[in-house]
Amino acid sequence: MTRLAGKTALVTGAARGIGRAFAEAYAREGARVAIGDIDTARAKQAAEEIGSHAISVPMDVTRQDSIDQAISSTIEALGGIDILINNAAIFTAAPIVSVERSDFDRVFQVNVAGPLFTMQAVARHMIARGKGGTIINMASQAGRRGEPLVAVYCATKAAVISLTQSAALNLIEHDINVNAIAPGVVDGEHWDGVDAFFAKYEGKRPGQKKAEVGKAVPFGRMGKAQDLTGMAIFLASDEARYIVGQCFNVDGGQWMS
Ligand SMILES: NC(=O)c1ccc[n+]([C@@H]2O[C@H](COP(=O)([O-])OP(=O)(O)OC[C@H]3O[C@@H](n4cnc5c(N)ncnc54)[C@H](O)[C@@H]3O)[C@@H](O)[C@H]2O)c1
Repeated sequence: MTRLAGKTALVTGAARGIGRAFAEAYAREGARVAIGDIDTARAKQAAEEIGSHAISVPMDVTRQDSIDQAISSTIEALGGIDILINNAAIFTAAPIVSVERSDFDRVFQVNVAGPLFTMQAVARHMIARGKGGTIINMASQAGRRGEPLVAVYCATKAAVISLTQSAALNLIEHDINVNAIAPGVVDGEHWDGVDAFFAKYEGKRPGQKKAEVGKAVPFGRMGKAQDLTGMAIFLASDEARYIVGQCFNVDGGQWMS
């Protein structure tokens, strides 16, 4: 299938996990993809494994100079950016009484300021180019509702949903569609880290929280990164042009909002 033939994409945080699955799926659909990640060695390896449709660009979404450099390198290598996926994020957990200001600042810098200022820089490029574009922000079921031990991460994902709505309303006049995807629980290295937090705070055995959340999903298991790719391809395709400022749950039936 070549539903994205001729298009170019920058996917942040695509050295591993869901972002890497997006980069692979986009390349399979005919797009040329830049993998932007702070883990430069793994991003390079991912690009090599995906093949000639992929490149890697060093990118730290907490630094404006790094965002700007990653975008210029992508434009130089691929000729422009049609699609941005703001996927890079980090997780944290703590009871409210233990939340530390430094951790709050660190996670908001990556998960909220990162997508906002990457959207801004890519939108400037898309507007100047005059060909419109697609921006997809990675939200989460964690942005739909708070959780007792996950105040900061949940707040960042609620902010991503809100930023998606504002950016969409602001940018649609330039033919730039902004939407979000809210995954549920997706197995991988991210969730290995989540599991370790719950082992610490709830006294669970390693792997126990993962098993519990997987069983609780109506579909019957945790998600896989590949479960998310269909929505990411659709939102970047021409069939999604009239969809503006929405956040789609792709979560095996977890949330109904
Ligand atoms: N895995 C899940 O269960 C789940 C659920 C809901 C939402 N999400 C969201 O989906 C997205 C992808 O999740 P994942 O499970 O693949 O995560 P992951 O932790 O496996 O991958 C995140 C990637 O982001 C990169 N990264 C971290 N900080 C960065 C920075 N400052 N600049 C650039 N890159 C940076 C990491 O190096 C890594 O490659 C995230 O936005 C996450 O919040 C994940």
